[in-house]
Amino acid sequence: MMDGINIEQQVQKMQRDWDARARENARHYVNTARQDWTDEEFFQSGERTVAEEILTDMTNICQGKEPKEMSVLEIGCGAGRVTRALARLFGQVHAVDISGEMVRQARVALRDFPNARVYQNNGMDLSVLGDVRVDFAFSSIVFQHIPAAK
Ligand SMILES: C[S@@+](CC[C@H](N)C(=O)[O-])C[C@H]1O[C@@H](n2cnc3c(N)ncnc32)[C@H](O)[C@@H]1O
Repeated sequence: MMDGINIEQQVQKMQRDWDARARENARHYVNTARQDWTDEEFFQSGERTVAEEILTDMTNICQGKEPKEMSVLEIGCGAGRVTRALARLFGQVHAVDISGEMVRQARVALRDFPNARVYQNNGMDLSVLGDVRVDFAFSSIVFQHIPAAK
């Protein structure tokens, strides 16, 4: 129990809250630096995230593999801001998000990237991926939003 509600209720609340934010202004809530993002600026900010947090650590991340031969996972992909940059860099991208509305918007953002697939997960595990195996998992600005169990 957390604050009088159980884990399932907490996860349902997270999903409802993120769906509401996604309907109101998904891009603002995934990156609050702006209220109104153009497509170009929004996806450039995802390229910057990858440049700063992934390209600086490729030896460790790739472990001798070619990026284009790697399969990667993004947890909490939001509207596809970082997912697009990941799909340019890596061979295969699997992206999950708890919010159906975020997933819908991410799929639109990734429609020209056949190597990227977006799934709605249950907010608790990665069972939606079935037997997908990945070489590397990444997540940006997600885990700090998940309430800790007490
Ligand atoms: C601040 S946004 C960041 C989105 C994206 N990572 C980015 O940097 O553009 C946080 C995202 O995490 C998702 N999220 C929150 N809790 C989650 C969970 N337990 N499982 C999967 N996604 C989750 C939300 O729906 C939202 O899309």
